[in-house]
Amino acid sequence: MITIREIKQMQATSEKYRSEGKKIGFVPTMGFLHEGHLSLIRQMRPLCDILVVSIFVNPTQFAPSEDLEQYPRDFERDEKLCRNENVDIIFYPDSGQMYPAPYATYVHVENLTDTLCGASRPGHFRGVTTIVTKLFHIVKPHLAIFGEKDFQQAVVLKKMVVDLNFDVKIMTGPIIREEDGLAMSSRNKYLTANQRRQATIIYQSLQKAQEMVKAGERNSEVIRKYIIDNINRIPETKIDYVAVVNETTLKPVVQIDHHSVIALAVYIGSTRLIDNVRLNTIR
Ligand code: PAJ
Repeated sequence: MITIREIKQMQATSEKYRSEGKKIGFVPTMGFLHEGHLSLIRQMRPLCDILVVSIFVNPTQFAPSEDLEQYPRDFERDEKLCRNENVDIIFYPDSGQMYPAPYATYVHVENLTDTLCGASRPGHFRGVTTIVTKLFHIVKPHLAIFGEKDFQQAVVLKKMVVDLNFDVKIMTGPIIREEDGLAMSSRNKYLTANQRRQATIIYQSLQKAQEMVKAGERNSEVIRKYIIDNINRIPETKIDYVAVVNETTLKPVVQIDHHSVIALAVYIGSTRLIDNVRLNTIR
């Protein structure tokens, strides 16, 4: 495994592998790797010849008020984890190289980025689509994989790849959870022990909602209200949004069908957590 820190070197390396007919698989991350990230690496490993993982805490997807400075980082630990998973290349650039001043060019996906997390984090998805575009131009992958944990991110990136004719196949991997159901996230580290216990309400509510749908409930408002009431009973929670949406358009649905997803964002103390479940109505 090698670590590449220079953009030009990464491009030249990918170009060389491409000219040899090698298939490049790519897992973009912001580091501080956990089982969620590792599951994506494991899914990609058998599908490609050269597996590239990027580690870059992307400043343009954080608002000035957000946790860019505090965001957890541990490159040495990440390096060991990648080595264990047979990663071939870690691309680990610095911010000055990725955004040389005066930086001016951004990619914006319309409509899909106005709702859900986009509504409460203006500019966030512009940062994500811009950095992923840049990473695709640098790593030149044939295949890239994103987690369903960031459901809206995956939908937005799939749209971007289609609209801008990127020659990259996008895959998604399922949400990896802690034993008690909490979706793994680098941000779980911010929770106190007490908040960590409270956070289990998120997936518990989503699971119960899934059961209600399985049992025949199709009214999205009934489902939303159930989740909101359930989460509001927990002292340190504050709901950002709970939405039942179509998996492709992200538009709210009234009548639940098998293309519906419940997505939510909830603050536990000052930590904002996201989660989602698909609603399978085919019984
Ligand atoms: P990051 O939060 O580090 O996540 C990297 C990838 O891991 C994303 O595709 C994310 O959806 C996936 N992931 C995170 N937690 C997961 C879990 N519990 N189960 C399954 N997959 C999980 O997402 C980003 O970084 C950035 O926005 C990025 C795409 C790298 C652009 O900067």
